Amino acid sequence: MAQGDLLVFPTETVYGLGVDAENKSAVARMYAIKGRPSTHPVIIHISSKQLVSYWASEIPNYASELMDKFWPGPMTLLLKRTDRAKDFITGGQDVVGLRVPSNEIAQNLLQEFESFGGHGVAAPSANRFGSVSPTTAKDVEVELGQFLGEEDVIIDGGPCEVGVESTIIDCTGKLPRILRLGAVTEAMINEISPIDRDDNLSEIRVSGSLSRHYSPRAKVFHDREPNEGEGLIALSKIQTPAGVFRLSAPDSIEEYARTLYSSLRSADTQGLRAVVALMPEGDGLAAAIRDRIFRASAE
Ligand code: TXA
Ligand code: MG
Repeated sequence: MAQGDLLVFPTETVYGLGVDAENKSAVARMYAIKGRPSTHPVIIHISSKQLVSYWASEIPNYASELMDKFWPGPMTLLLKRTDRAKDFITGGQDVVGLRVPSNEIAQNLLQEFESFGGHGVAAPSANRFGSVSPTTAKDVEVELGQFLGEEDVIIDGGPCEVGVESTIIDCTGKLPRILRLGAVTEAMINEISPIDRDDNLSEIRVSGSLSRHYSPRAKVFHDREPNEGEGLIALSKIQTPAGVFRLSAPDSIEEYARTLYSSLRSADTQGLRAVVALMPEGDGLAAAIRDRIFRASAE
């Protein structure tokens, strides 16, 4: 990666498509492979809190406490950048997104990269723009295999533990604001600080918050029963109507999150034209799942 190669690696959330965050041409190649507009910012992954001040110039107390409490883990913080975080990383915005993943392979990789003088790995989810994030190495291969070169490597770390992307928290204001729901939940953040809930305040663009995102080719519905020949994703307590293809039947909210994206993908591999994903009830991770289902089903 220090030579500008691309490395697909597992994290606890989803697989990432990693490049040296300080190598402009490698970042450009990563954007091209992803098919993502260059104005969209990308998260920088670091091995520990120690590198935060390299990339971020202002760190409010609550942000520092969030780091101590939830890193390493599925949380990304948006902070005022230093001039080391270039426009090709931040999409020209004045903030940088930082995350310390807990996955052991990701940790080892970052530590090794830093021991050779690197300062961070820029990595979006390893899918084509707008599509479902991959949670297994196989899904990455299907999604990006044809776009990767000989030198590019996919590390197989098995299925991701969490299964939905990190919680994104805007830490540029007086209070933290949640821009993307994830496994670090509102209730968990609230233990550290009150949350800013004003939807109109943030100027920050987050592409996962475009409404249509995280979609498979199959049309996704969430607000009706499945018809014959369609797929169904729902908690195991919900029965499968006759003639419907059951794509997953998770027993818990955690299992629902972990299997959601692979289940959506399986609708495509089975050639289904429509899939119904029934929303789980509850706060926390259930809310993150509803958010992703909602986006996957958006027009
Ligand atoms: O769990 C995750 O966050 C995964 C793993 C690989 O770490 N990564 C991920 O990256 O989901 P990506 O690029 O697919 O989604 C990151 C989101 C995007 O919506 C992007 O706009 C936002 O984070 N983001 C990243 N840096 C930002 C910045 N400087 N300012 C505003 N938004 C930012
Ligand atoms: Mg993504």
